[in-house]
Amino acid sequence: MVGGNSSLNLMYQYVEHMMAHWGGEPVKFLCPVPGYDRHFTICEHFDIEMITVPLNDDGPDMQQVKELVSKDAAIKGIWCVPKYSNPTGNTYSKEVVEQFAEIPKVAGDNFRVFWDNAYAVHDLVEQGDELPSLMTAAEKAGTTDNIVMLGSTSKVTFAGAGISFLATSTSQLAAFEKFLSDQMIGFDKVNQLRHVRFLKDIDGIKAHMAKHRDIIKPKFDLVLKKLEEHLAGKNMASWNSPRGGYFISLDTRPGLATTIISMAADAGVKLTPAGATFPYGKDPENTNIRLAPTFPGLAELESAMDVFVTCVELASLNAELD
Ligand SMILES: Cc1ncc(COP(=O)(O)O)c(C=O)c1O
Repeated sequence: MVGGNSSLNLMYQYVEHMMAHWGGEPVKFLCPVPGYDRHFTICEHFDIEMITVPLNDDGPDMQQVKELVSKDAAIKGIWCVPKYSNPTGNTYSKEVVEQFAEIPKVAGDNFRVFWDNAYAVHDLVEQGDELPSLMTAAEKAGTTDNIVMLGSTSKVTFAGAGISFLATSTSQLAAFEKFLSDQMIGFDKVNQLRHVRFLKDIDGIKAHMAKHRDIIKPKFDLVLKKLEEHLAGKNMASWNSPRGGYFISLDTRPGLATTIISMAADAGVKLTPAGATFPYGKDPENTNIRLAPTFPGLAELESAMDVFVTCVELASLNAELD
């Protein structure tokens, strides 16, 4: 399905649609962490209990996922950002994707894998990561009803004025369309046509994304250079060097993320609130900070990073002296 200007909106509507099927029982979701705050907000809205699972370099800890879903039929879903995950930049491995196709077989009824492929074409390097097709694996496993794939052009054309996508099995798509048809006539077809005319095909999308890469890669390079210059080898922070997506995820020493973010705010640098990358806004170790360098210009970013690294150093030293 090609939708309106927001895939998050489709996710919300899909969860709302499923609540009738999950109804009556308390519903739980698995949330690989750190993750995307808005996924967690949807769960909070629907009173869905969130259970965290660790996100490793190759995807969620599948052993834990399997154990949890097979023991508790109230777990009805899992949020995944399988390529250049928000915020850690990891891409799920072939093994993890294949395991995801099998998971619904051991889960309770109407289990759904929310495969939010928000960064499907958002490479920061020429040869980006390859994410194997979950739908192909699910076809083999016979679990396509349990897969909901999502994406959008919010970071391809215009945030707030792009188009979104949802894919699942034919029968599940028909059920979701029926749910939507009670609340709307249809999505903005003129905007969909504008996108087709502008982007044309996969080569058009690739050429367009290469232009974005030219704009934002220097920003990522600058952030990484500043972190390296000021924080490397000091045991004050660790961070990732993403090959795509929109974020650099940084972990401070335990307990310092909130202080660093508030120090930076006092000096005029606004960061994503501490805890945002965890369900209920609670980072148990208070360490994770999501850096999103795409918006500011290079000069502004340079000043912001000078402030940021100084705050990390100050907070770490203050904590040592306390
Ligand atoms: C993982 C993820 N999913 C969805 C979205 C939002 O997408 P949309 O603008 O299509 O609602 C974002 C935006 O930051 C995101 O990071």
